[in-house]
Amino acid sequence: MSVRFSSPVMISPRILAIDTSCDDTAAAVVSGVTILSNVIASQTQLHKEFGGVFPTVAKQAHRENLPYVVAGALRRAQTAWEDIAAIAVTQGPGLAPALEVGLTYAQELATTHHKPLIAVNHIEGHLLSSLAQPRSRHLSPLAEPWSQLHTRLPALGVIVSGGHTEFVWVTNPGQYQRLGWTVDDAAGEVLDKVGRMLDLGYPAGPVMEELARMGDPKAIPFPLPMTTSGDFNMSFSGLKTAARNLIEQKTAADELNKTQIHDFCASFQYAVFRSICYKLNKVLQKYEITEVWLGGGVAANLTLRQMLRDQLRLTHRALKPETTSIPPLRVPYTKKLCMDNAAMIGLVGSRKFSQGLISEAGNLDRRPRWRVDE
Ligand code: KG4
Ligand code: ZN
Repeated sequence: MSVRFSSPVMISPRILAIDTSCDDTAAAVVSGVTILSNVIASQTQLHKEFGGVFPTVAKQAHRENLPYVVAGALRRAQTAWEDIAAIAVTQGPGLAPALEVGLTYAQELATTHHKPLIAVNHIEGHLLSSLAQPRSRHLSPLAEPWSQLHTRLPALGVIVSGGHTEFVWVTNPGQYQRLGWTVDDAAGEVLDKVGRMLDLGYPAGPVMEELARMGDPKAIPFPLPMTTSGDFNMSFSGLKTAARNLIEQKTAADELNKTQIHDFCASFQYAVFRSICYKLNKVLQKYEITEVWLGGGVAANLTLRQMLRDQLRLTHRALKPETTSIPPLRVPYTKKLCMDNAAMIGLVGSRKFSQGLISEAGNLDRRPRWRVDE
């Protein structure tokens, strides 16, 4: 099914978006699916010494950063307050104290500047991030965005981040069903935790990707989890335990040299991604899918992208040997859209705005455990 979203109106409202779901303070201006600005104040340096996100530190940093980040987003988009149609803000899921800062600030801005407020699910942001268009490639800054966007549905969202790993069935923008998810750690979380055991710093995911390039992914045969569960869920904590045991053994035997670390990173990363591909294969066997949308911080990983493409080809050939069209993997046009950012929140905000889904200001409470299909 080929879809043209909504009717072609020639005005594309500008949405100011804010995300403070975890440790990055982010603001953006989005016009439909076009990203006009995307500003992120990273707190990585602040949390490095804790090896993970420290909530009170995150809360304070969000408070300090927000005014600058919002001002920067408006300036870079060359947009004045009177040109903003609505404010979109992440309501959840995420770290409760961090969400609260963004929500409170967005509600203050909405009151001061008399703008409607739109509550956004952070996971939906990751889900739609591969649909975003850069400013230069946009047909016209005035064109109605969702009507310009061509995509084929139903699609499957594959979200792989530090907080989430899930498959989401998309029948229409806003109509979602979560098909499978991780029952324990998220994929990015285990990469970070195992990376920490190897002293790779924080976050370890990108460092592991670099080191893995020099290693052999088949050197260490990690187990494939959840093969008998009969569902589309994933689990990564068993892999984490296997990694910890191995690191302890190798450290005790003084065997963890440079080559071993490269092999370890390549093998562990491969094991995590193989598990996602294994369940993707199961999903594709049951659901007819025309596109796959990849999002989340780990979506920046080129090995993951390649493995997903290979899996799509393999499964599709096995299921439909006579067809040549393989469901394409859509990825965000820049890595900045993979990690936590507000542009993806603006994308969802503009979808909701075009559908008249405005929230009641003053009434928004954080939703730390909000599911994408709730
Ligand atoms: O989407 P994100 O910024 O935050 C969450 O919503 O969680 O994702 C952060 C996660 C971290 O676990 C980080 O290690 C991982 O994404 N990550 C990567 C890469 N870049 C970021 N993992 C593997 N390879 C990468 N290139
Ligand atoms: Zn995220």
